[in-house]
Amino acid sequence: MRTQVGIVGGGPAGLLLSHLLHRQGIDSVIVERRSRAYVEGRIRAGVLEQGTVDLLAETGLGARMAREGLVHGGIEIAIDGARHRIDLAALTGKSVTVYGQTEVTKDLIEARLAAGGTIVYEADEVSVHGFDSDTPSIRWRTADGPQELHCDFIAGCDGFHGVCRPSVPAGRIRTYERVYPFGWLGILSQTEPVSDELIYASHDRGFALASMRSHALSRYYIQCDLDVKLDDWPDERIWDELKTRLGPEAAATIETGPSIEKSVAPLRSFVAEPMRFGRMFLAGDAAHIVPPTGAKGLNLAVADVRVLAEAFAEHFRDGSSAGIDSYSERALKRVWKAQRFSWWFSAQLHRYDGAEPFARRLQLAELDYLTGSEAASHAFAENYVGLPFG
Ligand code: FAD
Ligand code: PHB
Repeated sequence: MRTQVGIVGGGPAGLLLSHLLHRQGIDSVIVERRSRAYVEGRIRAGVLEQGTVDLLAETGLGARMAREGLVHGGIEIAIDGARHRIDLAALTGKSVTVYGQTEVTKDLIEARLAAGGTIVYEADEVSVHGFDSDTPSIRWRTADGPQELHCDFIAGCDGFHGVCRPSVPAGRIRTYERVYPFGWLGILSQTEPVSDELIYASHDRGFALASMRSHALSRYYIQCDLDVKLDDWPDERIWDELKTRLGPEAAATIETGPSIEKSVAPLRSFVAEPMRFGRMFLAGDAAHIVPPTGAKGLNLAVADVRVLAEAFAEHFRDGSSAGIDSYSERALKRVWKAQRFSWWFSAQLHRYDGAEPFARRLQLAELDYLTGSEAASHAFAENYVGLPFG
């Protein structure tokens, strides 16, 4: 098999890259380790920046999102139960859209298959070769035996636990990492969301988030210990904890019900530099992870592949290497802006066990400043609705 861009990973980054390349007349093949059903069912991000929404709409992926996505002009921050609204729309003229990653993924898969794109699912033992030569390739194994895809470039869109980043010799990559001493326990329930907008809660007992997927489907998170056992957290206990952390107003009106999904995600900040190694380029979670507090992970993946697709188009159309030469630097500038914002917002909202009381008072002072000062709200809102391209 041969193609122009061989893409490892069929999550949002790999799928969108393939879609954008197709629109530029560039051929690609996606090699994905999991099944289509598994990829479509993975519950993750929920908030799309306006730039993400615009890109999806401009490239023919906006119809269902326009019908089913929920446009939010603000978010709320609950500080020990007292709620404060940040008016994103008034402060920035922009809004965010709640449309699940599952739905973005389904729309992308459908568009790729309708356009005759190739996605190889359930590829075992995927490996990348020759990215320092003119003849890179991707190898894998299926029930029919070993397979090989020859390509001009490899795009490593295989997430944090993928194979592309670890294939880079140690001396050529530098990583920066911060692991947080807690995780998020998330539930999905067929209940009406407690509020029309998201509520991010900072409470003495820990962080909580009230989010949603639709008017009838709620997504809630609570900060939990890293060694949490799901058996110790029956739904009743999670609802009680949410009521406490979100505050009395939410507690009085929240609709509770059985969870239909329950999972724990660790929190991590991570960056690998550079994002290019010869003819292999990393994009999305393969290159960087942000804690989900700022809702930036998926949006960053989209921003990476937008820049990468433009760079490949310049190469194949004009024979210019300017775009591919500057990809890593351009992408990383934005990545570090998102790292700063996601780290800062996480640091203000979570409970740090063992921290001295002074630290909690500082958090409260930061949150008071954030919600009380127009300048601070404005800076926050600019970051939340969408980071500028660096
Ligand atoms: P991924 O979505 O991870 O896709 C990578 C793909 O590569 C996967 O389909 C994987 O199966 C495939 N793959 C992996 N290894 C191989 C291999 N060796 N060969 C072939 N294919 C391979 N962001 C938010 O903004 N809000 C959230 O609430 C949120 N929650 C999250 C919860 C979890 C548990 C995780 C892991 C992430 C969460 N994120 C969240 C982050 C967001 O979902 C990611 O930033 C986004 O999925 C990045 O897309 P991606 O395509 O780069 O990576
Ligand atoms: C979600 O709905 O899953 C969600 C929303 C906002 C975040 C993180 C997750 O910051």
